[in-house]
Amino acid sequence: MLGRLNHVAIAVYDAERAARIYGALGAEISAAVPLPEHGVITVFVTLPNTKIEFIQPLGKTSPIAKFLERNADGGIHHICYDVPDIIAARDRLIKEGARVLGDGVPKIGAHGKPVLFLHPKDFSGALVEIEQA
Ligand code: CO
Repeated sequence: MLGRLNHVAIAVYDAERAARIYGALGAEISAAVPLPEHGVITVFVTLPNTKIEFIQPLGKTSPIAKFLERNADGGIHHICYDVPDIIAARDRLIKEGARVLGDGVPKIGAHGKPVLFLHPKDFSGALVEIEQA
């Protein structure tokens, strides 16, 4: 049911600048990609077993703006797990009492695949994203 850790997302004011230090460790760093539907710009650092996703606010109503007001130096924003069937995962979570953020309809995420976000109060204080593998 639950797949691999897809990525750990770190919110920052400048995603390219934040990712640069990973280059010193020999990591592969993606170009910056704006995702207007999610209100962020993303830069991915690819590791052998997962990715680090740096997210930077895009636009005045970015969902990470408040997080950065509280964490001016940046911080871990969410973790993302692969699921084989996002609709089945959503329905099972709702049945168990977990809260799906937004309207519950998956949006297309940074990798061109459907994603949903789950309430931190149902996941030990961590904002969780699930992505269809
Ligand atoms: Co993410």
